[in-house]
Amino acid sequence: MAEAVTTHYAGNGDLAAAIAQRLRRAGKDIAALRTSDLASVDEFHIRGRAATLELGLALGLDAASHVLDVGSGLGGPARTIAEAHGCRVTGIDLTQAFCDAATVLSDWVGLGDRVAFRQGDATALPFDDDSFDAAVTIHVAMNIAAKDRMYAEARRVLKPGGRFAVYDVLQGEGGSVHYPVPWAREPSISHLATPAEMEGLLKEAGFGIEAVSDSTEESQAWFEAMASRMATSPPAVTFQTFLGEDFPLMARNQVANLRERRIRTVTYICRA
Ligand SMILES: C[S@@+](CC[C@H](N)C(=O)[O-])C[C@H]1O[C@@H](n2cnc3c(N)ncnc32)[C@H](O)[C@@H]1O
Repeated sequence: MAEAVTTHYAGNGDLAAAIAQRLRRAGKDIAALRTSDLASVDEFHIRGRAATLELGLALGLDAASHVLDVGSGLGGPARTIAEAHGCRVTGIDLTQAFCDAATVLSDWVGLGDRVAFRQGDATALPFDDDSFDAAVTIHVAMNIAAKDRMYAEARRVLKPGGRFAVYDVLQGEGGSVHYPVPWAREPSISHLATPAEMEGLLKEAGFGIEAVSDSTEESQAWFEAMASRMATSPPAVTFQTFLGEDFPLMARNQVANLRERRIRTVTYICRA
């Protein structure tokens, strides 16, 4: 299962080099990049950087905070949160190629001393109990069947009272998902929980749920805009850089999945 997931995300070699090549082609100077220049490729979730900024605010961080990002991908959310709050962020991700690229991209934007990435599994975190002040996970649980273990691990490594922001794609009431989608080309690596199941899982792991917000309508508008940009004037770097030629079809399917409420996007702000 783990290999199927990592192969889905990063089949094609050196991602940082591929991203650098596309940025240079578009006239960008790698030495002068800002975090926002990378957002079209490294904020790999619906509603992008704006959603990450919202989650960072909800975590109640300060410069002394150490945050865990579970399933950190190319590191966009970790860099955005570290930059916005002056804090440290450690990311963990199953896909080694994403961890390697996340480290390189962080050095490009001068955040290499405040963010760190290591390969690992969300269901068996390589950290001591009570290690982090806060944690976030964005669009990761869709690939994880053992969500009970994932959330129990997040609870274990968080200090008591620490906040956990969970922003995920959930199973909607409109029926089964149209594939391929950005997290799976077919159903074997897709494990969507319903909103009711998510609340139960988070509570069983020992979290109190402080706020729940459903952003499905905004997500639909965001994906419609992204699908039309992909068809007319795509940005220099997009998720296509690593998902490959399937990505435009994935984007069209996501528009249909959101419109037909086959999926929903929901955020849970929890406290350990
Ligand atoms: C859609 S991406 C989201 C990445 C990042 N959170 C973001 O929003 O930019 C999903 C990520 O989850 C990671 N992932 C999937 N299963 C995982 C697991 N069991 N443990 C850790 N990471 C996992 C994948 O490697 C991928 O980087």
